[in-house]
Amino acid sequence: MICINNLTKVYKLTRKQMQEQKTKKNMKKAVDQLSLKAVPGEIYGLLGPNGAGKTTVLRCVATLLKPTDGSISVGGIDTLDKSEEIRKKISFLTNEIKLDPQFSAKYMFNFFGRLHGLDEAAINERREYLFNYFGIKGFEDKKIDELSTGMKQKASLAVSLVHDPEIVIFDEPTTGLDIVTARSVTDYLKLLKEEGKTIIISTHIMTEAEKLCDRIGIIIDGRLVMEGTLDEILKDTNTADLEDAFFELYKQNSREEACI
Ligand SMILES: Nc1ncnc2c1ncn2[C@@H]1O[C@H](COP(=O)(O)OP(=O)(O)OP(=O)(O)O)[C@@H](O)[C@H]1O
Ligand SMILES: [Mg+2]
Repeated sequence: MICINNLTKVYKLTRKQMQEQKTKKNMKKAVDQLSLKAVPGEIYGLLGPNGAGKTTVLRCVATLLKPTDGSISVGGIDTLDKSEEIRKKISFLTNEIKLDPQFSAKYMFNFFGRLHGLDEAAINERREYLFNYFGIKGFEDKKIDELSTGMKQKASLAVSLVHDPEIVIFDEPTTGLDIVTARSVTDYLKLLKEEGKTIIISTHIMTEAEKLCDRIGIIIDGRLVMEGTLDEILKDTNTADLEDAFFELYKQNSREEACI
């Protein structure tokens, strides 16, 4: 389970960032008192426009960023207390490929397996299963650099799941992927859900949120402006699809500038 209570994250902006964002204020409130819960056996989707604060929320959950205010517990552990323990339970993945381009997918998988304290037999078994599932097996000895974008993403996904984590945090799982690769990623997320994992993803793809997520939280300017199942959101906004619901909420909630 992931519990986020009144999470606020304020970034201090550099001079360059102030210029880029055309603001005179040197602080940016990226997340504003956001609370949500994601439970085992569900896929929770954070849906929001560019700059809404999705990545910031997920990075705080993954203990990569410290909240300015509020608290987060992951699998019953407070992120501020024992971030090391939390990292053993989670997989955090973004669509930016983090694997070293000079090494093979097999090497990276084995390396991370050992980092997680798995023995060789367990690593080999897990690798066979995941590489076969994602169709990486025939490419496992090629350098990451030589793989296609889709294959790189699938290799990253497999590596990030080496330790069979209880909680999966995935920032924009299908951005940049073709529909075949995207489907293999979303199908795998569904499988993880069936296994009872807790999954939280971010997306700005409406159809992905509609099809994949059990509950959706809509985030605009750092604030969670609505949360529920697709049906609940459509009912509450009196709209026919998620895109219409999103625009309705966007009209009501977007601010020109969310700087403090
Ligand atoms: N390290 C940082 N320093 C300063 N400001 C930041 C930093 N990271 C993010 N921001 C700002 O915080 C806000 C939220 O950014 P965030 O990346 O969390 O949004 P997002 O919803 O993930 O957007 P996208 O859909 O573009 O990925 C944005 O205004 C962004 O410019
Ligand atoms: Mg983002």
